Amino acid sequence: MIGFDSVRSISFLRLALAAFVLSSLGSGLAHEVRADDMDDAHVKYRQSVMEGIGANMGAIGDILKNGLVLPGHVANHAGQMADSSELIAAAFKQKTKSTQTDAKPEIWKDWTQFESAIADFATAAKDLQKAASGPDASAVMPAYKALGKSCGGCHKKFRKPKEESFRKMNMDHDHK
Ligand code: HEC
Repeated sequence: MIGFDSVRSISFLRLALAAFVLSSLGSGLAHEVRADDMDDAHVKYRQSVMEGIGANMGAIGDILKNGLVLPGHVANHAGQMADSSELIAAAFKQKTKSTQTDAKPEIWKDWTQFESAIADFATAAKDLQKAASGPDASAVMPAYKALGKSCGGCHKKFRKPKEESFRKMNMDHDHK
């Protein structure tokens, strides 16, 4: 005969089970949310690294295009970019699901080629650093242009063009 107590303890067991299932579902969900946050954090970091590189390139442009007399500055900015080149592979290594990015899936499909685009960029940055530290001022502009080409060499294959940028998509979305 099932007494009142056993009915109670069965319902208690069911409740406990339901609570357990719910809490594990909950923590699974929390895990997923956290993974998405981490994806966004990785993507933001990559973009910050690129913005640093972009700022150095812009600073060199300011100097060269306007003929500013700032001895050592071009070499310094080029050196900073050579240093930053060492951050790119690790910054991009992790495949992410974030949509707030212009990184193309080709990066992870053709990782070796992505790495060689990094190497080309590093070489071009060091070449500019050397040219800007050397006695031949006429070597600086060509080295700066070659460095610019190395950005394009990577962006062309591995970064979404402006028309397809997530920033544009975000804006289109906001305006609807
Ligand atoms: C090895 C590949 C590679 C090289 C070399 C490279 N970039 Fe990038 N860059 C990328 C990728 C990929 C993105 C897109 C990142 C994203 O949106 O997640 C990017 C994004 C950027 C951005 C936008 C950052 C943002 O906030 O969205 C700037 C600015 C930039 N790059 C400048 C440069 C400049 C300037 C150079 C050369 C001096 C350069 N990059 C060299 C791969 C590269």
